[in-house]
Amino acid sequence: MKVSSMDKIKPSKKLAALPPYIFSRINALKAEVSKTKMDVIDLGMGNPDFPTPSHIVDRLCDTVKNHHLTHRYPQSKGMPRFRKAVAAWMENRFGVELDPAKEIISLIGSKEGIAHLCTAYLDPGDYVLVCDPAYPVHFNGVILAGGQVYSMPIVAENNFLPDLTKVPANIAKKAKFMFLNYPNNPTAAVIDDKKFLPAVVAFAKKYGILVVFDNAYSELTFGDYVAPSFFEIPGAWDVGLEFHSFSKTFNMAGWRIGWACGPSKFLAPLEKLKSFLDYGAPTFIQLAAVAALENSQDCVHTQAAIYERRMKKMVAGLNKIGWPAQETKGTMYLWLKIPPALAHMKSLDLAEHLIQETGVVVTPGIGFGASGEGYIRISLVTHDNRFHDALLRLKKFIKTHGK
Ligand SMILES: Cc1ncc(COP(=O)(O)O)c(C=O)c1O
Repeated sequence: MKVSSMDKIKPSKKLAALPPYIFSRINALKAEVSKTKMDVIDLGMGNPDFPTPSHIVDRLCDTVKNHHLTHRYPQSKGMPRFRKAVAAWMENRFGVELDPAKEIISLIGSKEGIAHLCTAYLDPGDYVLVCDPAYPVHFNGVILAGGQVYSMPIVAENNFLPDLTKVPANIAKKAKFMFLNYPNNPTAAVIDDKKFLPAVVAFAKKYGILVVFDNAYSELTFGDYVAPSFFEIPGAWDVGLEFHSFSKTFNMAGWRIGWACGPSKFLAPLEKLKSFLDYGAPTFIQLAAVAALENSQDCVHTQAAIYERRMKKMVAGLNKIGWPAQETKGTMYLWLKIPPALAHMKSLDLAEHLIQETGVVVTPGIGFGASGEGYIRISLVTHDNRFHDALLRLKKFIKTHGK
């Protein structure tokens, strides 16, 4: 009797509807292997291995130590000083003019903002157009909010851009928003086709869809490639919101700070929801983030150059061991098709065996959506003096398991 009365205490149907969180499985395996004598080379999570630049850390320490008012509750939407610094940075970097009072809010990391945007906008059954593969919050946020994900496969043949002509009109009519993320996690694709974003704007206008542009990797680009803001595109202001993160740009992943910006009419529901749920990012973190935005951006460029060097080295090494790989123009990732010799293995199976047998941690493509099957993602977040070892282990693995 007692047991059955407790049966109703179950997680919500929304939580149960989430796909299994593959990253937790990989983390658990990594932890298991770390306990053994095996040397782990972590190319898994996109978690920068560099420290936050010292001028940002110094600002945090000084603020916490000498300005006790920053220990009080912050404002959910972010302090005016932070929003002003974001506005200046956006104008300087992209030529996009924003009103700091109404068109910018701070986030406790962009992941938080993206997930809450779904709650702020979606009613049960509302459709959202999501690329497949995608950063998992783009689909998990929708599922948690009770919405319906419509997957737009992004494939190598189309440079990992969604083919909007393939979205059925009846779905587009029902869709409330569309997530886009370029430079892209996990595929590392950038937008080279100048016609793509104008076509997105036209599509969004035709069907009344909000474009949620996740620009977490805008500063992590290589060579001559410069990533745009969605708002640089004519007409984008009428249909868009943009999300930014300090995590990769300034190696501040653990600080949990980002921002959302765009027309106040689109931003207001998120701001309202957050005012009920949280108090915003801590004031001392916001002030350190201001130091990140207002000081020289040389550290950002140095950082990107290091990732570029790592990318080139890893791509050359992979090709040498017979695992085809292509150079990228941005992000910290390589999206690798499982080579023919290992094609009999599913991506999760491959990642699990790799960790257990070689200590090399990678992320299985299936964790990013059904179209991610057949791929693994490598994050270039380990010093490149470890690449030689990692490649030797991969080579041996292919020899042992290859068919
Ligand atoms: C595409 C994309 N958006 C957002 C985020 C989350 O960033 P934040 O640390 O600001 O929550 C990530 C993190 O990996 C990401 O890859």
